[in-house]
Formats: sequence, C-alpha cells, structure tokens
Amino acid sequence: MCSDRTSASTETTAPGVVLELDDIQFGVLHQRPASYVGTYLLLRIDDRAAGRKLVERLLPVIEPARASSDPARDAWVSVAFTYHGLKALGVPQVSLDSFAPEFRQGMAARAADLGDVGDSGPDHWEKPLGSPEIHVALSVLSPDAGQLESLLDRARRAHEELAGVEAIWRQDCYQLPTGRTSFGFKDGIGQPAMEGSGVPGSNPDELPIKAGEFLLGYPDETGSTGPMPVPEILGRNGTYLAFRKLHTRVAAYRQYLRAKAASREEEALLGAKMVGRWPSGAPLALSPERDDPELGADPSRNNRFGYGDDLRGFKCPAGAHARRANPRDALDHEMSVDVRLHRMLRLGTSYGPALPDGVLEDDGADRGIIFVFAGTHPKRQFEFVKTQWLNDGIFIGAPAEKDPLAGVNDGSGTFTVPQHPIRRRLQSLPPFVITRGGEYCFAPGLRALRWLADPDTRNS
Ligand code: HEM
Repeated sequence: MCSDRTSASTETTAPGVVLELDDIQFGVLHQRPASYVGTYLLLRIDDRAAGRKLVERLLPVIEPARASSDPARDAWVSVAFTYHGLKALGVPQVSLDSFAPEFRQGMAARAADLGDVGDSGPDHWEKPLGSPEIHVALSVLSPDAGQLESLLDRARRAHEELAGVEAIWRQDCYQLPTGRTSFGFKDGIGQPAMEGSGVPGSNPDELPIKAGEFLLGYPDETGSTGPMPVPEILGRNGTYLAFRKLHTRVAAYRQYLRAKAASREEEALLGAKMVGRWPSGAPLALSPERDDPELGADPSRNNRFGYGDDLRGFKCPAGAHARRANPRDALDHEMSVDVRLHRMLRLGTSYGPALPDGVLEDDGADRGIIFVFAGTHPKRQFEFVKTQWLNDGIFIGAPAEKDPLAGVNDGSGTFTVPQHPIRRRLQSLPPFVITRGGEYCFAPGLRALRWLADPDTRNS
C-alpha cells in the first residue's frame, strides 16, 4: 500500500538535526516514482562466510540517501535483515540482545497480539514467511520493467553463485499511476514529515516528526535517542521494518457493500466511510458528501485537514480506517494520548492482479498489499496502532468495534456511521484482509553494512 515518501533530494537544513544522508539507505528516505514495478526477495544464509560475502557484494548496489547527481535515478535496492539473519552473519549475542524485543521474537511469535489468528494465523502463512529461515530481505523498485530487470540482475549477481546463500521467496509488486490499491482507493497519502529531511509536510497542522522516530541515533519525540542496538555503528541510521503480506478479499468487500446499500451512490459513500477517504484520495473531512478527484490529486490539499471540528464523526466516522490509523487532532482532548508517538512511515505496495471494476465474484487470484512499516519503535508505533487503534475501539468509545477494512473482523463485528437523524450501524462485518505472513526486519545504515560484511572492522 501506502507509498509517497519524504524526498531526501536536499541537504538537511532544519535547525537542531542534521541527517547523515551518506549513511542512510536511499529507500528509507527517498520519494518513490509515481508509478513503479518492484520485487521483494527473501534469502537464507546457510554459511556465515557466504553471508558476509553477500553483504559485501550488495554494498555497491545499495545507495545512500544523499542527493544523486543523476536526476534520472529513481530505481534502487534496499536491504534488511531479520534477527536470524543477523545471527547467521555472526553478530555477537550481546549485540543481538540489544535489539527491540519484537524484532528478536519475530512476527509469528507476535501473532496472537497482532490479531493474526484463524485464517490469518501463522499456521496458514505462505511458506517460508514467519519461519526462522528468512534472513535477508531485498526490495528492488524501479519506474519501469527494463530498469527493474537490470537492477534485479545486479542484486542477483550478489547472491547467485554464492554457495551458502539461497533465494527462498519472491514477490513481484507494483504501484499504479493512480496510486490506487486493490480495494480501489488511492493510498500512501497520509505520511508524516520528518524533521531534518528539508521537505515540508503535506499537513501544515502536523509539525515534522522528530527524526529519531524513524532513524536510530537521533532524538525522538520523547527527547531521547531511544533504545539503541549496540555497538553504535550497527544501530545508527538504521530503522526497523514490519513487513506483512496482506491478502485483500476484494470480491467479499464489494458484495458486502452491495448488500448494505440501496444504490450505487450509497455503496460508494459506505466504502468511503470505511476508509475515511474517497477512491480518488479526497478526505471525507474536506469532502464529506461526494468524491472530489481534483482534491484527491492535489498534494497541497489532500492531507491538509484534522478531525477537531468533527469529533462526533458526521463527516468522517471515528471508526474509519485512516482516522483510526492517525486520529490527528481528534484525540487532543485525551491528555494521555500523544498521536505523535504513534506515527509511522509506510513503504508498502500492491501485489497481484486487480479485480476488474464491477466484478463481484471472487476469481481466486491472490491480490493485496505488501504492507511495510518503517520506524524506530516497532511496539509503540506499528504494534500500538495495529492492536489499540485498528483491532480495538476503546479509544473511540466503541469497544466492540474494529477497523472495518483492516481490523480483525470475524463476521460478528459492527461499524457505526454517525448521521442525522439516527446513526447507521453496519452489522456482521466479515474479514476483508487476511494476513499471509510477515516478519520484522532491521534496515541498517551503510556503515553498519560494512561492519556486517567485515568482521575485522568489528574488532577495530
Ligand atoms: C490491507 C490492509 C490495508 C489497506 C487496504 C489500507 C488502506 C489504506 C488507505 C486506502 C488509506 C488512506 C490513504 C492515506 O491516507 O494514505 C490508509 C491510510 C493509512 N493506513 Fe492503511 N491500509 C491497510 C492496513 C494498514 C495497517 C495494518 C496499518 C498500520 C498498522 C495501516 C496504517 C495506515 C496509516 C498510518 C494511514 C495514514 C492515515 C493518515 O495519516 O491519515 N494501514 N490505509
């Protein structure tokens, strides 16, 4: 899903923080092309020396975030490691123990907390997702298939012919020029601005979030640099990723809306109420009655809103996906909740063929979203949002309700649409999203990659 990214095309100038752009992976900070194709590859390291060789060979392929002199460069490779991957590379235990607990446990072990149960449970995950076999994750993105192939070739040359490193999973992905994902809604609009990136945010009411929320080694919103992996060279300028393959039941979603609505207009309205935005990306907060494609396409306006004037949710229901995931100023009266501590970068993308418009029957195809969270606090950012805001409704005064789109629904849930004269309550919400697998990864900075590749540097 969600993809527009903060551009790092300028040197950082914000007072107080200077990002080490030469050391940050390009893919963490760089704005993605408007449409692109990509591939995720997962690798297993069977031999430590071969694993280190792999990292050494990847080094020239992974570019830093510093602005390139080549204006045409918008294809790149990113690399991240799981806990078992770092272990396979020979990272000392004392260092492994210094990483965030969720990363150390792995996502399958967190399944019950995250709501990955039933059909979404690890027993049903696509192999080898969720297994300790996954060590290295590579993502390759490019605006066109030609460049993708040549970059993939470079990534492949880094691991093929290396006895002791095995490619064990591949997933192709893409972003359409419209930015729309499988349910038909434009995604990737609501992204936080990062202090020090030099790029103004798209929501003037949200001050840029401290760099330490997204990159290790910088002060975060609490004023500290947070728990840092040791040694410092390994953690600095790195970030955690939560990678999830989320299958979307598009036909079930369309059938549900058809059954609940009296007209196509009402169907579109209910769909928008569930998401918090219209298919074009226009937010309900600014355009509550109908879609406004011009607004949806205008980056200077489509994220410039709050919910403070709509606390009861007549424009955008408090239970809508995007409002749950980022309640903005709607929680300002709740002194105990600081929304800024729960922001995240989303680097996700689409996979699988689109279900053609108007089709209500399931064609059996696997389609959905590769959801990728990036941030330095997997628990209070990704896990908090998933468990407290998407899978629960206590914070909006509706404890029994979950996110209608991405929550853990089981056919018994409800979704309330406030309206005059009486609210509408949609019943019997089935699950529209099934987890096919996932993993926590760590995307290191470039110095850390050199450290991982060369044990001698570790000792120096
Ligand atoms: C298949 C599952 C999902 C789908 C189809 C989906 C779709 C969307 C859509 C259409 C938007 C509105 C566009 C935008 O504001 O950028 C959105 C926003 C968002 N989603 Fe999701 N999403 C999914 C899962 C998740 C999950 C699991 C999380 C976090 C744990 C999440 C976090 C967010 C956030 C933070 C926003 C931005 C809200 C804002 O800043 O206003 N999403 N999503």
